[in-house]
Amino acid sequence: EKKRDFEGKKVLVTAGPTREPLDPVRYITNRSSGKMGYEIAKALVERGAQVILVSGPTYIEVPKDVTFIPVETAVDMYNAVMMHLNEVDIVIGAAAVSDYRPKEMKKEKIKKDDEKLTIELVKNPDIMYEVGQKKGNKILIGFAAETTNLVEYAKRKLKEKNMDLIVANDVSQEGAGFEVDTNIIKVIDRDLNVKEYPLMTKIEASHVILDEIAKLL
Ligand code: C5P
Repeated sequence: EKKRDFEGKKVLVTAGPTREPLDPVRYITNRSSGKMGYEIAKALVERGAQVILVSGPTYIEVPKDVTFIPVETAVDMYNAVMMHLNEVDIVIGAAAVSDYRPKEMKKEKIKKDDEKLTIELVKNPDIMYEVGQKKGNKILIGFAAETTNLVEYAKRKLKEKNMDLIVANDVSQEGAGFEVDTNIIKVIDRDLNVKEYPLMTKIEASHVILDEIAKLL
């Protein structure tokens, strides 16, 4: 029997990659499958929460009993999150948001006429940073996917983005990170205590993360 320890809590979860269009047929994206965020959303529903899932494009099934808001770009995701921020108690940023987008989206397909093509990129809004600026009593949980200096970078992000917890995973390790059903996570709190967990399924990892969040409620 699962605990119903999120009863009465409203939680916004971001998940998946974003897509940043270059022209009508092309976009820039990343390797996020959305699995981690979707498993967290499911675990939250099981434990009694009301869930708003703001998701970039994925190939996985939409979890039952969530309010699902599909988005494409980082700017779309930012707008959706800001629209619902006031109604929620907890924000979990599991999305792999593109840091940059093409400066302009070409109206017509880019032709291969030139030997070299330069695409100018501009910075996207940092959604979790902006949420951190409007934190209030909300609990904020972010993710840090890194290939080096995992704990150091994760601690820095937790501080910079005013988060309560950050879930760090080394995406260069086998069984961790993108496109797989397992993850190897470390959970870091505001006092910079680091808890390390062994390889787990993303379902198990979700419950571990929710156990840590529940302690802050
Ligand atoms: O700085 P970095 O992208 O590694 O931070 C990761 C955390 O910040 C994740 O929780 C991610 O969802 C969030 N993020 C965001 N908007 C961005 C970039 C990252 O919400 N533009």
